[in-house]
Amino acid sequence: MTHEDMSQNAEGYPTVDTPETEIALGKGIDLGTANIAAAVQNEEGGITVNVERNAFLDIGDDVYSKNMLTKLKVPYVVHNGKLIVIGESAFELANVFGKNTRRPMSDGLISPAETDALPIMKMIISKVLGQPAAPGESCYFSVPAESLDVDNNVIYHQGLFASLLGKMGYSAKPINEAHAVVFSELAESDFTGIGLSFGGGMANACVAYKSIPCVQFSVARGGDWIDQNVSKVLGVKQSKATYIKERGIDIRDPQNREEEAVAIYYRELINYVLKNVKARFEGGQNMPTFQDPIDIACAGGTSMVGGFIEVFREEFAKIDFPIPVGRIFRAEDALTAVAKGCLVAAAIGE
Ligand SMILES: Nc1ncnc2c1ncn2[C@@H]1O[C@H](COP(=O)(O)OP(=O)(O)OP(=O)(O)O)[C@@H](O)[C@H]1O
Ligand SMILES: [Mg+2]
Repeated sequence: MTHEDMSQNAEGYPTVDTPETEIALGKGIDLGTANIAAAVQNEEGGITVNVERNAFLDIGDDVYSKNMLTKLKVPYVVHNGKLIVIGESAFELANVFGKNTRRPMSDGLISPAETDALPIMKMIISKVLGQPAAPGESCYFSVPAESLDVDNNVIYHQGLFASLLGKMGYSAKPINEAHAVVFSELAESDFTGIGLSFGGGMANACVAYKSIPCVQFSVARGGDWIDQNVSKVLGVKQSKATYIKERGIDIRDPQNREEEAVAIYYRELINYVLKNVKARFEGGQNMPTFQDPIDIACAGGTSMVGGFIEVFREEFAKIDFPIPVGRIFRAEDALTAVAKGCLVAAAIGE
């Protein structure tokens, strides 16, 4: 032990960190179409979330490219005879050269069109999640629910990542991403209520009663769906549509034709999700009887646009929801709520 290993506690006595006696509380990871976020317990007892874009760029393996990346201080790895840049660095580099990044996932699931998807995601996951603190440490990872509107294969996606995390030394457990929102945002309501995650590729919904999910579903509409439609109606590139949407607009008060288009599709998305939740309540299958009004918590990058929760409340008021609802709110940190919920699930599960 060196002097550097020693620190002082509140009373001023020297203390020594002994990782081998610490209890492994588990980790959480949100495997999203747009972002991968890992939530871990930090030494102060709080939560640290590491986020990386789920994107990469490949460049020919030649001396010129290597020198360029070194000069720009861009980290890369060599994979299948190519130089691979991952995450935020890939996004920045792509913008510099006017290229598109490649994306390992689309519509909430591993992309069938992207043959390099799994090894690339393994690199990003290792970067944000790190090694297990102890062999077999539990790690809850987010998965989408089956979609109502498209035929997708969640089982395959879930199996791939359970196996990948298992090989990294984790005991991997899947959790629906909207269920994770319930864990991160509805602790005060005894984990009872509706969690919604508005992501890049999908929107996920979960109705939970005392932490048990009663109904979970997804729709294949999210931020990408808004971007694609705005791009079509305005005749602009999809990346331009993303830019308009993310530049700090308020969908209650669009300032021009472009912002109007974004606002229209936002309203449509929110209405579509709410209608589907309502239909499930009316269908009655697996639905518990709630004694008190329940809360609705929204999260995900798509909920970060200005005016989101106000428009959500307006649309909610229009649809004549079948059961009493209390608070409707957005997670304080909408982009990392799913990852935090996965960590809470891991901690409670232990
Ligand atoms: N400030 C912002 N305003 C509006 N949209 C935003 C903002 N920031 C991010 N987004 C959008 O959020 C989406 C990404 O959100 P998020 O990271 O929650 O998705 P994901 O979890 O990766 O995707 P999914 O859950 O669908 O697999 C993108 O469509 C992005 O354009
Ligand atoms: Mg998500």
